[in-house]
Formats: sequence, C-alpha cells, structure tokens
Amino acid sequence: MSHRGWTRPLGATGIRVSALGLGTVKLGRNQGVRYPRHFDIPNDRAARGLLAKARDLGINLLDTAPAYGTSEARLGDLLKDNRQDWVLCTKVGEEFHDGQSHFDFSPAHTRASIERSLQRLGTDVIDIALVHSNGDDLTILEEAGTLDTLRGLQQKGLIRAIGMSAKTVAGGLAAAPLCDVLMVSYNANDHSQLPVLEACRDNGTGVMVKKALDSGHLANGDVGSALRDALGQTAVDSLVIGTISTTNLAANVTAVRELTG
Ligand SMILES: NC(=O)c1ccc[n+]([C@@H]2O[C@H](COP(=O)([O-])OP(=O)(O)OC[C@H]3O[C@@H](n4cnc5c(N)ncnc54)[C@H](OP(=O)(O)O)[C@@H]3O)[C@@H](O)[C@H]2O)c1
Repeated sequence: MSHRGWTRPLGATGIRVSALGLGTVKLGRNQGVRYPRHFDIPNDRAARGLLAKARDLGINLLDTAPAYGTSEARLGDLLKDNRQDWVLCTKVGEEFHDGQSHFDFSPAHTRASIERSLQRLGTDVIDIALVHSNGDDLTILEEAGTLDTLRGLQQKGLIRAIGMSAKTVAGGLAAAPLCDVLMVSYNANDHSQLPVLEACRDNGTGVMVKKALDSGHLANGDVGSALRDALGQTAVDSLVIGTISTTNLAANVTAVRELTG
C-alpha cells in the first residue's frame, strides 16, 4: 500500500487532489477522438449523475479544456452549487471547431482563453491551467511566451497552479523545472515518459497522468493493474481517467483505493 493516501499534495502547489481524477473529454466531444468505440455525449441528467457519483466516491479533481467541445461550459453549469468541492484543471492553446484542432499559444490568446474559461466554468479562479501542447513542445516553451503569460495571470490571482500537458520527452524535461504541474502520458503500452516522471520528482513538480488506460485501448486487459502500475510511480500524484460510465468509475476507484487505502 502507498504511504501517500487517497488525497495527496499536488507537487508543491498547496493543492490537494484525489489519487484518481475524472477526465471530461467525453462530456463534451465525440469527434476527432481516439477512443476505440463511438459514444454518445451524456445528457445533463447522466452527466450530473456521473459527477455526483465521482464526488461520493471521493474524487475532487476534474480535467477539462477548451478543446473538449462543450465540456467546460457544461461543467460550469453542473457545478454551480458545489464549485468549492472541486479542483478544476483546464488548458490553453488548443481550440477545436468544425472537427478540427487549431492552435494558438500567443500571450493574447492565452489571456483571452483564461478569461473565457473563468466565465464558462463560473469561477473566480482556475485551480490548474496547463498549456495544451500540439506536440511542438520546445518551440512553445522557447518562443511562445505561454508559460510566462500563465505566470502573470497566476500572480494576479486568476490561476492557482500552472503547467503543461507536453507530448515529447524533450518537452517534458524542459518543462518540469518551469512548471508547478505536468500532465504526462503513462500506460503499459507507453513508458517513454519515465525520464519526465523522474525530472518531475527531482524538481518537486506535481504530476497528473493522462491516458493511463491508453484511451481505452488497454481497458479490456487488467484495468486494475494498469492503474496500480501508473500510481506506483513515485512522481505521480493523480491519474486522470476519462469515463462516462459510473460502473467503470467505481471500479477504478476500488482499484486505486487498494493501493492508497
Ligand atoms: N493533451 C492532453 O492534454 C490530453 C490528451 C489526452 C487526454 N487528456 C486528459 O486525460 C484524460 C484521460 O485520457 P483519455 O480519456 O484519453 O484516456 P484513458 O483515461 O486512458 O481512457 C479512457 C477510456 O477508457 C475507458 N475506461 C475507463 N475506465 C474503464 C474501466 N474500468 N473499464 C473499461 N474501460 C474503461 C473509458 O470508457 P467509458 O467511458 O466507457 O468508461 C474511456 O473510453 C482525458 O479525459 C483528458 O482529461 C489530456
């Protein structure tokens, strides 16, 4: 059993997160996604039920993004009465319109995107804001000024923690010392980001894992062992798993609680 428990610090951010978070792509977008099967976006009743179940199970971390279709706006609506119970993570840089992603990492777009996320989410402060990389991590870090803009917004009190959802190992290694939090891919089919996890551990950078089930491509195998393997990495604070199934959500919580108590 891990000594870190079910709720734990997210790096040095001062934010405490549950070891399992909920990814909300599937609440807002079903086009241009790499899940193994088509799905229908849940209606409000089902989405409300999913969030209530997540909260009852002790999950406090929700991950969204402007690129996840209606996800941010729906969360704002659905969380109106209990915003304070949640740690909300959103992103900047990727937009998704008419079935296509578009990217803009400029300071002006970053500021406008955060303003819009605050409005959509119905909140005065975003707990975690990440750069939503297009894969060209080093150019974003070295030339775009996105992280500096997020730092400025953090200093104004609009964001509590900043970071990046990088895609490359080189990008993750460069981002780890500059960020409060990284979102990192890790699953049984892809251990390539292990050096990034080490860099996060060495820098005290918080880590949220994305794609722990390889976007559902691992889900027919042993889901429990995949989750325990990912959370067993010492740098990892939380696994953000995407699901719209309350049954799968509960099974994931059971598997993770076997490790965290
Ligand atoms: N660039 C980025 O920043 C980025 C990229 C990708 C993802 N993310 C974030 O990370 C989150 C997770 O990534 P992901 O959604 O791509 O992949 P994932 O969490 O690895 O897999 C999600 C898929 O696994 C299925 N699943 C979940 N639990 C299951 C269980 N117990 N048994 C069987 N199937 C199960 C879900 O289907 P059901 O709905 O049927 O349960 C869903 O289709 C996303 O939601 C998003 O928040 C960020």
